[in-house]
Amino acid sequence: MLKILADGEVHSGEALGAALGVSRAAVWKQLQKLEQYGLVLESIKGQGYRLPGGLDLLSAEKIYSALGEESGALLRKLILFDEVDSTNTRLLSLMEKGEGHAVALLSERQSAGRGRRGRQWISPYGAGISLSIGWEFNGGVQCLEGLSLAVGVAIARALARFSVPDVRLKWPNDVWCHGRKLSGVLLELKGDLTDRCAVVIGIGLNSGLRSESAAAIDQPWADLQQVKPGISRNQLVAAMLAELLPLLQNYTEQGFSAYREAWMQLDQFAGQKVTLQAGTQTWSGIAAGVSEKGALKLNIDGEEQHFHGGEISLRGQI
Ligand code: BTN
Repeated sequence: MLKILADGEVHSGEALGAALGVSRAAVWKQLQKLEQYGLVLESIKGQGYRLPGGLDLLSAEKIYSALGEESGALLRKLILFDEVDSTNTRLLSLMEKGEGHAVALLSERQSAGRGRRGRQWISPYGAGISLSIGWEFNGGVQCLEGLSLAVGVAIARALARFSVPDVRLKWPNDVWCHGRKLSGVLLELKGDLTDRCAVVIGIGLNSGLRSESAAAIDQPWADLQQVKPGISRNQLVAAMLAELLPLLQNYTEQGFSAYREAWMQLDQFAGQKVTLQAGTQTWSGIAAGVSEKGALKLNIDGEEQHFHGGEISLRGQI
C-alpha cells in the first residue's frame, strides 16, 4: 500500500484494492493503519486517497547504487525492514549468531527505538533514518577507544556532502544542527571485551518528522527536511555508509587520533561554560575539547579534568 501511495498521487480505493488484490474493506483497514503510523493521509471526495508530498521510501537498490563499488564491497549485507522494535536489538541478535559483521540494518519505523542513557528514540514511519551497523574487532575494547566520537565525525562528513549548514558535535556523539539535536548514536558492545568483540553502531537521524510525533521528544530537536529540504534518505544512508565502512575497516590501526582534530573543529561547546552530569554528580567547568582517548576535557578552577561518561549542557540549562 505504501509503495503505491509513496508517489504522492491520488489513488482510488478501487484501484488500491485491485493492485493489492484485496477488498475495499481491507483497503480501508490498511489506510487506517497508516494513520496509526503517524502518516497524514488525505481523502479526496469521489477520487481517492493520497499522501501529500509522497514518501521517499528506503530502497536497497538506490542505496547500493549511490554507495559505489569500493564502499559497497565492504558491506556484506544490507537488510531493510518496514518495522522492527529496534534496529540495534535486531543486529545484536544477529551478532550473537555470528552473522552481524559488516551488516547494515535499516527500518522505516522502530516501535521501541532506544537512545542513550535509557531514553527512547522516536522513529515514526519514513520520518528519519534508523540505521545499525555491525562490526567485529580483534584486540578487545581498548582499540575501540573514541570510536563513538569518530562515528559522530563520520555522520557530520556525510551531511557535509549535501552542504547541510551549521553541523556541530556535542560530546560524546550527538550531531547538532543550528543548535539542536539532529542525530544521535548508540554504541553497543558484545562478546569478549579483552579479545574478539563485536560492536553495533546505531544511528538515528530526524528527517521529515511530523510535529505530532515530535511532541514526545524531550529536548530541542532539528529535522533535516526543515534545515535542507529535498535530501534523499537513500542517498544520505549511502553517504553515511561510505564514511563509516572505511572508518570501521581501519579503526584498529588508525584509532581516534585520525579523527580527533576533526572532532575538535566541530565541537559545539568548545570554550563555553558547561555542566556535566554523571550519575548523581555534577561538575561545572569550561569545555576544553577531547583527549586522545575521546574523554571530555573540562577546565575546572584552572585544572584540567578528563571525563569518560555523562551528559553535558550549557551551564544553567539543566
Ligand atoms: C541517542 O540517545 O542520542 C542515541 C540514539 C540512537 C538511536 C538509533 S536509531 C537506530 C538504532 N536503533 C535503536 O534502537 N537506537 C539506535
